Amino acid sequence: MPGYDPSRLLSVSRHFHIYGELLHAEPCKVGHINETYTATYDQGGVPVRYIHQRINHEVFKDPGGLMDNLQRVTAHLRSKMAERGVRDMTRRALTLIPAQDGRSYYRSPDGEYWRTFVFIERVRTFESVESAEQAYEAGKAFGEFQHLLVDLPGGRLHDTIPHFHNTRKRFESLQKAVREDRVNRASAAKVEVEWVLAHENLCDTILRAMTSKRIPERITHNDTKFNNVMLDVATGKAMCVVDLDTVMPGCALYDFGDMVRTTTSPTLEDELDLSKVQMRMPMFKALCRGYLEAATFLNKHERALIAFAGKLITFTIGLRFLTDFLNGDTYFRVHRPNHNLDRARTQFRLVESIERQEDAMQKFADGL
Ligand SMILES: Nc1ncnc2c1ncn2[C@@H]1O[C@H](COP(=O)(O)OP(=O)(O)O)[C@@H](O)[C@H]1O
Ligand SMILES: [Mg+2]
Repeated sequence: MPGYDPSRLLSVSRHFHIYGELLHAEPCKVGHINETYTATYDQGGVPVRYIHQRINHEVFKDPGGLMDNLQRVTAHLRSKMAERGVRDMTRRALTLIPAQDGRSYYRSPDGEYWRTFVFIERVRTFESVESAEQAYEAGKAFGEFQHLLVDLPGGRLHDTIPHFHNTRKRFESLQKAVREDRVNRASAAKVEVEWVLAHENLCDTILRAMTSKRIPERITHNDTKFNNVMLDVATGKAMCVVDLDTVMPGCALYDFGDMVRTTTSPTLEDELDLSKVQMRMPMFKALCRGYLEAATFLNKHERALIAFAGKLITFTIGLRFLTDFLNGDTYFRVHRPNHNLDRARTQFRLVESIERQEDAMQKFADGL
């Protein structure tokens, strides 16, 4: 992990309300976004683990607002679970450890933002869904997460990344990138750009339903990848949803749509063999069943767009990859030439697969 420095971690750790002496710490994950460390403290002769995490404040411009969201959301999850008599609460939701000054984070003299969580033991994450049972667990975990937050008190959360899933704005960014053609790649992406332009009608369906309030704004996770669900090692059941940086006001369907995008195809998002890219119905069914069993708050307009949501988010992410390709790969990290173009192609192939099965997908959801 870049720049791992035990003495830096030791000095950060002193600013949090943790009893006992730091025994050792180690990097936990080379994340795309944050730096995450596992730290073990001696508490009364028992080793107890915590997570220290440095917030990436280049991506999140308002770490204070982000932490305010996180603190409110985790407190509410806890109080809802207490109401319902849920046991094992510190394994069912993230628990923030306050800083010595009472705030939910610590800002170091060199401007880094740090936060600390109770370490959740005996769980693990998977990079991708390996079975329909796991797809069910993923759907259920994010559905429950949204459900518990339906009645969050205290007003609107901060928008940690404004217009995150606004497909119309993403579409306009693509048009601009094509017009400017800054790095002379438009000709290489001609087929894909035409494909996107031919699908422009996807952009506004959900935005319009939100403007007219048929679809309400909800509190959503916005990064519903399977590796953000912690599963109990013993039972395989979902325990806790993590990675709450992008929790903000949004559309519930976007969370579901991104689950469809990331769990139903057997391929990675940059698969080169497009013939392997497909929306697998058994995975969709399990995911959808888990989600709808938990997300009982959805209204009929939201439920009617369940299948569409998968198509829309896959289209939107594809648009973003393509735009980044045209802009010279400034947002998504690339590991080979044309990487973002490959990623866009994979998404568009998946959109086509969903299109072919959309009626059957929606029929299944309607029958639940
Ligand atoms: N409270 C926790 N207890 C145990 N492991 C955690 C905890 N929080 C995060 N992790 C681990 O660290 C990883 C990265 O954390 P995450 O918040 O998802 O950051 P990133 O933005 O880098 O994905 C998670 O996938 C999980 O394995
Ligand atoms: Mg994560």
